Amino acid sequence: MYNNWEELEEACKNCKKCKLCSNRTNVVIGTGNKNAKLMFIGEGPGADEDREGIPFVGKAGKLMNMAFQGIGINREEVYIANIVKCRPPANRNPEKDEADACLDYLRSQVMLVQPKIIVLLGSVALKNILGEEYGITASRGKWIEKKQIKYMPTWHPAALLRDENKKMDFWKDLKEVKKYMDSLM
Ligand code: URA
Repeated sequence: MYNNWEELEEACKNCKKCKLCSNRTNVVIGTGNKNAKLMFIGEGPGADEDREGIPFVGKAGKLMNMAFQGIGINREEVYIANIVKCRPPANRNPEKDEADACLDYLRSQVMLVQPKIIVLLGSVALKNILGEEYGITASRGKWIEKKQIKYMPTWHPAALLRDENKKMDFWKDLKEVKKYMDSLM
């Protein structure tokens, strides 16, 4: 675990703990407010994120930004990261050894940011953070509280691009998150 950002970022940039390091352009560590109450965890960088070194800047990210705007969540106020920090080839799901190798960095990020709420975007985030026993279809939209953090699993924004019907759920889940955020102020 890393207890300061400098060491964490340096370690990520030089990381060779798994095979994903061999094809990366950039390590995509995270973006946003390092003191955020609200954190989002996705799966892993795609081609756009790998090129820019910033999470959720591609198509899925643009859709997420639109939802943020509509609901009144300010992207600069939240912190966004992924399960793995390097792009899996052809956007496949991260493999277990890759996620396991990377998880220590994400845990350090959570410890440093100290969010009150974490939105888990899709099955990969849900299973790696809360456990294999959780399924996204059954869990989405329901709060799960662990160690004083409230988790909200929802669809991954890329799933909304494939299935329009999921958009309503996604909006509903983010509205619920926003409502709880506002109640904390
Ligand atoms: N999908 C993810 O899971 N993360 C990103 O950063 C971009 C797309």
